[in-house]
Parts: sequence; C-alpha cells; structure tokens
Amino acid sequence: AKKVRVHHLAAAKERGEKISMLTAYDAVTATLLDASGVDMLLVGDSIGNVMHGHTTTLPVTVDDMIPPARAVATATKRALVVVDLPFGSYEAGATQALATGVRMMKETGVAAVKLEGGTRVAAQIRALSDAGIPVVAHLGFTPQSEHALGGHRVQGRGDEAAEVLADDALAVQEAGAIAVVLEMVPVEVAARITEILRIPTIGIGAGGQCDGQVLVWTDMAGMTDWTPRFAKRYAELGRALQQAAEEYVADVKKGTFPDEAHSFLE
Ligand code: KIV
Ligand code: NA
Repeated sequence: AKKVRVHHLAAAKERGEKISMLTAYDAVTATLLDASGVDMLLVGDSIGNVMHGHTTTLPVTVDDMIPPARAVATATKRALVVVDLPFGSYEAGATQALATGVRMMKETGVAAVKLEGGTRVAAQIRALSDAGIPVVAHLGFTPQSEHALGGHRVQGRGDEAAEVLADDALAVQEAGAIAVVLEMVPVEVAARITEILRIPTIGIGAGGQCDGQVLVWTDMAGMTDWTPRFAKRYAELGRALQQAAEEYVADVKKGTFPDEAHSFLE
C-alpha cells in the first residue's frame, strides 16, 4: 500500500475523508495496526503511563522515546508515523525544540513530531517546520501540563476559553503545523475549530466533527480494566491475553505442554 504522506492529510480534509490514528509503542503492535489500514501511528509519550507504569507523562525522556519510535517506524509500511516530543525537550525555545526534533528525525525514521501547546510554542513549531520537520500540535487537555490544568478536565468550556483555544489553533496553523490534536474539548468547540482551520483536526474526546480521531491503542483494544469515557473498547484483548496465559500455565503445571507436536523427536 502507498505510504501516507503529509499532503494526504490536507487532501483528506479537503475531500471530507476522515483520518484515523492510533498510538503504538513497539514493532509487533505497529505491524498489526499498520496492516489494519490506520492512517497515522503515534509513538505517544503516553508510553509513560501505558508501558512504563507512571501515573503521568512527565517522567518520559527523549532517550525513552527513541527506541520505541525507531521500532514503530521500522515496522510500519503505510501509516504516517509521528513521535511525541516529551515534557522538557522543547519548552525552552526554538533552539531546544529544533535540537530535539533533529535528533528524533535522525535516530528514529519517523515522519513527524508532535508537541503540546498553542501560541506559547508557535516559535518552536515555526523552527521545526522551517527545518523540514512536519509538526502536529496538541491542544485542549495537554497531559504534560496536567498539574497546571488541575487534572484531566475538559478544556475550552465557555465562550472565553473557547476563544483562547481557537486562537491557539490558528496560531499553530500559522506557525506551520500540519495537523492539530484536540483532546477533551466540547463537541461544538472542536467543530468550530475544525471549520476555521485549513489543517486537519484529530480529536480524542472532542466529538465526531473533527477531521480525524486518535485513541491510545490499549484503550481501543480493551487491554486494561479501566478506559476513559471517550475511548471505545473495540475488543477485550486484556481478558484474552490473560486467559491464554492461564491456559499455558495450567498446561505447564499438568505437563501437557510441550506435547510431541512442539518437541524435537530426534
Ligand atoms: O501520547 C498520546 O497518546 C497522545 C494522544 C492521546 C493524542 O498524545
Ligand atoms: Na502525548
């Protein structure tokens, strides 16, 4: 299948064709998700929560992100692969953001980077874009700022907050962003931003009128007991995996595994 490129995202918005995106953190999962036909894979800093067991994304480092980003980029044939710039790797300014972005591009093989914030990171988005590094912005609930935002809360509620969010969206577009993730934003606010932007919006907890949707793959596949309200469980893979392991353990205990079929007889 033909590789998804940056210009295909704008073309999809133009045609009114929805864009699908999932997170991925390793090669085996990326291979399966890429084969599903998903348009974009995000090596999210949600790896901190999902794979490293942290309660926030704050401890994740650039060094943490590089091996999984390389694994996903290497395993992916079609989807456009994006990596998150983790907390602390771009906030200081354009110079820091560019250094981090260049390192990601050189060492991983991803096609784009993502960072959180609007007007406050416009200079960073401009510097990365000017260097030929496509940037996805992330607005609304931005997990790297969760302490400042007071926890996982819907953002852009009320006319004033909605106005600020729309201004941020226009600022990242102006700075050269190729798309904007909108996280935990009221449906009407996300719809309005989607309408005023040329670049695609990709929603997570932002309603059905965004140009695309993103979910954390372990939420989408039902790998864990709890999922956020905005995430739909398309399978119960956690239960299936535990059940498979239970059967394996029981077979080993009983001595019914390995049988002849799984042994070298000579
Ligand atoms: O890290 C992540 O998984 C994300 C998505 C939720 C957009 O940033
Ligand atoms: Na993220």
